[in-house]
Amino acid sequence: MRVRLLAADPVPCHGERGSRDDEDVSGSEEQTMSSETDVAVSGPKGFVSGQAALDLAHELLSGVDARWAHTRLAAATARSIAHTVPEQDRELLVAAAALHDVGYAPALLRSGFHPLDGADHLAELGWPVRLVGLVAHHSGSRFMARARGLVDRLDAYPDEGGAVADALVYCDMTSTPDGREVRLAERLQEMHARHRGDPAAERQARREREPFLRASVARVQARLGPGRRVLPVPTQQHR
Ligand SMILES: [Fe+2]
Repeated sequence: MRVRLLAADPVPCHGERGSRDDEDVSGSEEQTMSSETDVAVSGPKGFVSGQAALDLAHELLSGVDARWAHTRLAAATARSIAHTVPEQDRELLVAAAALHDVGYAPALLRSGFHPLDGADHLAELGWPVRLVGLVAHHSGSRFMARARGLVDRLDAYPDEGGAVADALVYCDMTSTPDGREVRLAERLQEMHARHRGDPAAERQARREREPFLRASVARVQARLGPGRRVLPVPTQQHR
């Protein structure tokens, strides 16, 4: 199936940071993919649209358990905390929140590790390298990838860290897998319960990941200010 890259809001994806800054992951203007899904994707390489990201996430995840509800809330939270990142990165944050879990879509299953499967797919579609890197490395995926021997493949994409990556952790960790607002402690508890019984390497990865997640959320809370109650901003479509 042919997928044509469609024009979208001309919001630049600034500062293609990371080790592959100048690498072209977009390929040609038109690309071939194996998925059955017919999608509208981002604008020209280097530009990103939060709404185009939501449209693609909806297409891929609307039939996957409650992942779409989780995604929708994460994207709405991203809108509400966007002021914690530089202005030129706010649309990038919303798009990353919208797309961070697309690797759960059955059509994208390759490695079985959703941050990597999602990033591979987005790279093939020509999404900007910073966005692909944020999806690949979202919420401390590195720790889990190490346990599965997938770090090298994950490191094909830049791990930029910083305010946008922190905000993405916040969006992910304050939404339950079925799309309810939740505090970090409860979310971590739920994650532990979901992965109970995993091999030792995975348990160790979770132990390393938890301090990372707590520190990321704490930095976002500090940027928001003390006692700040954040309400998700509903997305324009797919409510
Ligand atoms: Fe998530």
